[in-house]
Amino acid sequence: MFDELPLLPPDPILGLLSRFRADPREGKIDLGVGVYQDEEGRTPVMRAVREAEARLLDTQTTKTYLGIAGDPEFNTRMLGMLLGDDHAALKDGRIHGVQTTGGCGALRIGAEVIRRARPAARVWVSTPTWANHMPLIGGSGLQILEYPYYDPSTHGVDFGAMMSALEKVPAGDVVLLHGCCHNPTGADLTLAQWKELTALALRAGFTPYIDTAYQGLADGVDEDVAGMRHMMSEVPECVLAASCSKNFGIYRERAGGVYFLAANRERAEAVLSNAMAAARQIWSMPPAHGAAVVAHILGDATLRADWLAELAEVRGRIAAMRELLARSLAGNGAGIDFGFVTQQKGMFSFLGITPAQVTRLREEFGVYMLDSTRINVAGITPRNIDPLASALHAVLAGAAA
Ligand code: LMR
Repeated sequence: MFDELPLLPPDPILGLLSRFRADPREGKIDLGVGVYQDEEGRTPVMRAVREAEARLLDTQTTKTYLGIAGDPEFNTRMLGMLLGDDHAALKDGRIHGVQTTGGCGALRIGAEVIRRARPAARVWVSTPTWANHMPLIGGSGLQILEYPYYDPSTHGVDFGAMMSALEKVPAGDVVLLHGCCHNPTGADLTLAQWKELTALALRAGFTPYIDTAYQGLADGVDEDVAGMRHMMSEVPECVLAASCSKNFGIYRERAGGVYFLAANRERAEAVLSNAMAAARQIWSMPPAHGAAVVAHILGDATLRADWLAELAEVRGRIAAMRELLARSLAGNGAGIDFGFVTQQKGMFSFLGITPAQVTRLREEFGVYMLDSTRINVAGITPRNIDPLASALHAVLAGAAA
């Protein structure tokens, strides 16, 4: 049976993590997978998460099945966090969804429901986009096409090219957007651009499919999703896939959710029934623990405040590392001004160096980043900045065009 199966290459992100872990060098630096690290290079369990886990363990009385849609409190509180409690879509009862196995599960169930609703719909993704978007969404059978997004010459969004391309997307197709902290570039849309894009979605008739995995890691839990909230208050239909991995730091617990905005209550119920049927076919129901922790934190004023405070520390540290990196790379031999790193949002930036430089950094200096030159800024610490900057200066030396 397995004779014809080819040996596949490792995953571009998680494969790099395995290589990093297998590297025996003491001073190796991980700027690969999107996982937060503190000043000491550790990925801590957040204070509120630790406290919620202790309470849950103490009070848990059963391990019986959750429903297919997961924990109803989790879904309600997630929607409150994502949209704001007084969002019109919530008041109108037009949005429902299911708890999922992290953001990946959310994206896959989202795609499965889109395929059930409109098998011929094509999904347009930004160039570039997160490496796993294609397999996750394409794996459901939907065709994927790309629209221009990042301009390497400005290190920002090429909004003109993006809008011109999306003008031509036919009604009934789907456009995948990053809610905030674009992965892999860190280049985000402004609120004004979200508003223009919303008007275009209404005019063109495509359905937005928003992936939000980094809410709270740029400017604040509400600030980061202002554009997405605006769009979802205007468009008749939308799919929203959310992850709790990064903003709650519960990566391995696999907590997330996918929520479907429909034209009215009755349609929203029908979509939910299809999301539940899709989930039942894939994993039956999601794991309980991570989502229970999130639901507990969001439902407890003290824990929520502490979580928000720690999240503010996290984004403050990332912003400080952006400044430090840009300063440390001043005067490099390639003459690149890395000031753009301070303008980008969330965990990631594209360094824009050459593939040969990426390889040399990894092999000679033990500095790991994705081949695309995406770095996880949260992997930079006051301890590793000097060796990191020396390695970057070394590979950039004499590289000026
Ligand atoms: C990343 O982009 O590094 C993270 O979202 C982890 C992953 O699953 O790829």
